[in-house]
Amino acid sequence: MKTSQRLLKIPTSPIRKLTPYAQQAKAAGVNVYHLNIGDPDTLTPEPMLEVLHAWKQNPITYAHSQGHQPFLNALKMYYHHLGHSFVETQDIQITTGASEAISFALFATCEANDEVLVFEPFYSNYQVYASLHHVKLVPIPTELRTGFHLPDEKTIASYITPKTRAILICTPNNPTGTVLTAEEMTRLVAICKQHQLFLLSDEAYREFTYDNKKQTSLLSFMQEIPELAILIDSMSKRYNLCGARLGMLVSLNQSLLQGILQIAQGRLSSGLIDQTMAAALNQLPLDYLEQMKNEYQQRRDVLYAGLKQIPGLVVTKPEGAFYFIAQLPVADAEDFCRWLLTDFRDQNETIMLTPAAGFYATPGLGKSEVRIAYVLKCEHLKRCVQLLQRAIHLYNEQTYVMSEIASEM
Ligand SMILES: Cc1ncc(COP(=O)(O)O)c(C=O)c1O
Repeated sequence: MKTSQRLLKIPTSPIRKLTPYAQQAKAAGVNVYHLNIGDPDTLTPEPMLEVLHAWKQNPITYAHSQGHQPFLNALKMYYHHLGHSFVETQDIQITTGASEAISFALFATCEANDEVLVFEPFYSNYQVYASLHHVKLVPIPTELRTGFHLPDEKTIASYITPKTRAILICTPNNPTGTVLTAEEMTRLVAICKQHQLFLLSDEAYREFTYDNKKQTSLLSFMQEIPELAILIDSMSKRYNLCGARLGMLVSLNQSLLQGILQIAQGRLSSGLIDQTMAAALNQLPLDYLEQMKNEYQQRRDVLYAGLKQIPGLVVTKPEGAFYFIAQLPVADAEDFCRWLLTDFRDQNETIMLTPAAGFYATPGLGKSEVRIAYVLKCEHLKRCVQLLQRAIHLYNEQTYVMSEIASEM
C-alpha cells in the first residue's frame, strides 16, 4: 500500500540519521561518545524524582488539556521570578515537549504555503513541523565568522513577502550557541510590529548563557506586541527532563490560545505523572540553574580550548546553549561522521557528531561543518577532542591515498 507523497517529503533528522551505525559499533563492543544529541548526562533533580518514587494515584488519569494546575502554578512562579510578573496561568499552554509547542505555533499562525523566516543554520526539527503543516521555512543566512549574529533590519526585511506570516528565532541557539542581544531582539520586535508578523521565540536554553551574558527573552516584549509574540519553552534541558516530554507555549493572544487549546483537547493531555513531577521545580535550590550553567560553561571552555588546537578546524566560542558549529578540514562532514562510526577506532573508542548540513535549508551549505553537543563530563570531552584530532588526521590521510590511487588508475 502506497503512503502519502507528503509523508515522503518529511526530512530525516540529521541528529538521528547516523544512529544505526552507532548501534552497530556499540553492538561490536566499541565505546561511542555521543556528542551528536542534546541529551545531557547531568541528573534530573531529586525533588522531582521523589515525586515519582512516592507516586500513589491509581488510576493514572489524563491531566487537563491546558495543563495540570500545580504545574501551571509552578511555571507562573518561575516566570514571575524571572521578572515577568504579567504572566498568568491562562497565558500558558502545556505541551508534550517544546516540539509540540513548535508544531502548535506553526499551525496556529500559518495557512498552507505561508512563509516563516528563520536564521540559518537553525534547529533541524523546525523543518519537520513546517513540512507537516505545509509551511515554507525561508532561510536568512548567518555566518560563523560573525558568531551567527543577525543581519541588519534592511536585510531581514528584504526576505518578507506577502506570504510571510512569522519570524522564528531560537535564543540561546541550537545549533550555533548564539545568544541574541537586547538590540537584536528589539530589531526583530520592530520588524514584526511594522510588518504585522508573529514572532516565535524558542527559548529552551534560556538560562545557559556564559561569560556573564544575559539572555533577553521575548517575554520582555510580550506586552508590547501581545497579539504577535509566542514563546516556545521546554523543561527538557533546564531540568534534565528530556524524557518527561514537557514544554510550554506562552502568549497573551487569547484567541490564538483558545484555538491551540482545541488542538490540545484533541490530543487529550500531556502526561499527568510528568507534570506532577515537573511541578516540583519550585522546590529546587535557588541557585540550581546557576549551577547548571556553570557546569556547561566549564564544558564549553574545555571543548573550545581543545578544538582550537586542532589544525584546520574553525569555530567561534558559543555564547550559550550547549552546542558548537565547527567547520572541519574535510570536504564532506557527513561522510566523515559516518566513517567515525564505521571505521575509526582508537583504543576501541570513537565519537558521534552531527553533520551540520541538515541545519541548513540552502542546499550545499554546511557541508564541511558538524554540530558538537557538549553534553558529557569535562574528562570525557578532553578524550573526545583527542579522538577528533586523530580521526581528522587519519581520515584526510586515507582520503589523500584514495585520491592518489584513483588518479593513477
Ligand atoms: C532549540 C530546541 N527547541 C526545541 C527542542 C525540543 O525540546 P523538547 O524536548 O522540549 O521537545 C529542542 C531539543 O533539542 C531544541 O534544541
